[in-house]
Amino acid sequence: MSIRTLDDLLAEGVSGRRVLVRADLNVPLDKQSGAITDDGRIRAVLPTLGALVEAGAKVVVCSHLGRPKGAPDPQFSLSPVADRLGELLGAPVRFATDTVGESARSTVADLADGQVALLENLRFNAGETSKDEAERGAFADQLAAFGDAYVDDAFGAVHRKHASVYDVPARLPHVAGRLVLREVEVLSKLTSEPERPYVVVLGGSKVSDKLAVIEALLPTVDRLLIGGGMCFTFLKAQGLEVGTSLLEKDMVETCRNLLERADGKILLPVDVVVADAFAPDAAHDTVRVDGIPSHRLGLDIGPETVAGFAAALSQAKTIFWNGPMGVFEMAAFAAGTRGIAEAITKADAFSVVGGGDSAAAVRALGLDESSFGHISTGGGASLEYLEGKTLPGIAALEN
Ligand code: 3PG
Ligand code: MG
Repeated sequence: MSIRTLDDLLAEGVSGRRVLVRADLNVPLDKQSGAITDDGRIRAVLPTLGALVEAGAKVVVCSHLGRPKGAPDPQFSLSPVADRLGELLGAPVRFATDTVGESARSTVADLADGQVALLENLRFNAGETSKDEAERGAFADQLAAFGDAYVDDAFGAVHRKHASVYDVPARLPHVAGRLVLREVEVLSKLTSEPERPYVVVLGGSKVSDKLAVIEALLPTVDRLLIGGGMCFTFLKAQGLEVGTSLLEKDMVETCRNLLERADGKILLPVDVVVADAFAPDAAHDTVRVDGIPSHRLGLDIGPETVAGFAAALSQAKTIFWNGPMGVFEMAAFAAGTRGIAEAITKADAFSVVGGGDSAAAVRALGLDESSFGHISTGGGASLEYLEGKTLPGIAALEN
């Protein structure tokens, strides 16, 4: 890999130079209060930012948050993130109320050596995510004007061909930050000769989101455990009735085909927790998968399934987990996700947790993060890495 790193940049000396850092500060916010509910992604870029501050750089951080539609939208402002970042760095972070406008220009111009600024949400600008090269390029020109060098530490966004990820590094001397390097180093252990048995646990709501990774992993893994909302489309493919559970009708045939080719590697739930409604206080029971009542929906895997999955995990030497097993945000439907997470921590294996939701689940359930080998900050990015896809943000650093 011919990627230059933050250490290379530091060795050149960055004192007094403006360094533009693309971070992934896309953190979950509480819908009511707007408060940050999990600051894991902010903590994850501290090593890179801290090193630049210490070296006396003028640090200009940019990120997206959520999916605003190319125009300012206050609910997606990075302002609370600037405050939290300042607390964690132990020095105030200057916040620009636009991304490349007047506020950004003066904020960057006023930065002293060793100070940090955060620009407003990149996606408040249509050029960031545009499919049109010229429109993206014009926005990238404006961003690149804020830096003498560029550091990509936004692992969670390296799978996006966006201006700040793909086009800016073509315009500035560019290096990979500490987080991006660590993520790539860890994930490459999973793709090149993982120690066996290699067990993958996939959850989350949609088969369609995970189809490519299932296809890519089937030949490589020893066991693939499937829970979460997407298990119901697989159960349907086995000819079972799934009541009013989440179901992707147009994926049933695909799932049937996957099960046929899986040669017994895919393990599905044998029991599930079904409820009257999608609500924290809904009446619920555990049933066998062949006994799901027509008017009820499955919101978690059942205890017998947890035990079976845990047995497979206890044999593993390498584990990758992406996606919750149930609606863990509701206490009544959190036992499956908790049980699987605990089984992973108990296994004598190298374990990687991929994905914003699974990482947030680990922290929300109060599990000890250090008992996992690695908690990735990338959801889509880690999956696409495992699929063997070219990641635009990594490719841009290689050039
Ligand atoms: C994520 O949360 O997966 C990353 O921040 C990328 O966000 P996106 O899926 O909206 O591009
Ligand atoms: Mg995402």
